[in-house]
Amino acid sequence: MIVARTIPRTRLVIANWRRHGLSVGFVPTMGALHEGHLALIRRSRRMCDRTVVSIFVNPTQFGPREDFRSYPRAWSKDQDACKREGVDLIFAPRVNVMYPEGNVTLVKVGALGDLWEGAARPGHFDGVATVVAKLFNIVQPDMAIFGQKDYQQSVIIRRMVKDLDLPVRMVVAPTVRESGGLALSSRNAYLDSLTRSNAQSLHRALAWAAAQIKTGETSISRLSRDMAAQIKSGRRFKVDYIGFCDPETLLPKKKAMRPLVILIAALCQVSGPAFGRRYIDNVLVR
Ligand code: PAJ
Repeated sequence: MIVARTIPRTRLVIANWRRHGLSVGFVPTMGALHEGHLALIRRSRRMCDRTVVSIFVNPTQFGPREDFRSYPRAWSKDQDACKREGVDLIFAPRVNVMYPEGNVTLVKVGALGDLWEGAARPGHFDGVATVVAKLFNIVQPDMAIFGQKDYQQSVIIRRMVKDLDLPVRMVVAPTVRESGGLALSSRNAYLDSLTRSNAQSLHRALAWAAAQIKTGETSISRLSRDMAAQIKSGRRFKVDYIGFCDPETLLPKKKAMRPLVILIAALCQVSGPAFGRRYIDNVLVR
């Protein structure tokens, strides 16, 4: 496994694979790798000859009051995990490699980036789109694998690939969950065991709503009220939004009719390291 810290080194390794006609799969991450990330890596390994993982905690997607500094970093564990999974190349640049002094250009996402997570985190998706566009240009993969866990992110990147004619095939892989249903996330490290078990109510509420819709319930106000009550009863999470939306445009629907995606975000209310952190999840109902 090769670890590259610079863009020229990364390009050189990949150009060499290309000369041999090998296909390249790419999994962008911010590190602190868990089974969710590893599932994406395995997918890439199944579909491509070579797999590149980037590990870069991207400062431009964190707001001024967000956890950029305290975001979990686990370099040597991540490296071991990648080695075990058969990753061929880790690209782990420093901030000044990705954003050298004087850089000004941004990918602006527009309205899709102002909805839901974007409403709570202004500029977040411009930061994500910019770094992903840069990573695509550096790695030039045949295929890039993202997780459904960050549903809005996957829609925005798919849109960017289309709008900017980026020659990358997008794959979105299912959310990996703990046995109780909680979506794996680097931020779960902040949760004590009681709060963790209460966090499962997010997924339970989503699964409940999906089942209701499948049996014919169409009232969004009824569904969201009951979902919010289910989550609130644990008294550890405060719902920020529950969105019933079109799976592609992410615009809110008037009725809970398939196909739709239900997006949810809740803020942890327990004092300690988890306080105020956002937990998101979603379910696609086809
Ligand atoms: P990060 O949060 O590290 O996630 C990297 C990838 O792993 C994303 O595609 C995310 O959707 C996926 N992922 C996270 N948890 C998952 C789970 N439980 N199941 C399946 N996939 C999961 O998302 C980012 O980093 C950044 O925004 C990035 C795209 C790297 C740009 O900086």
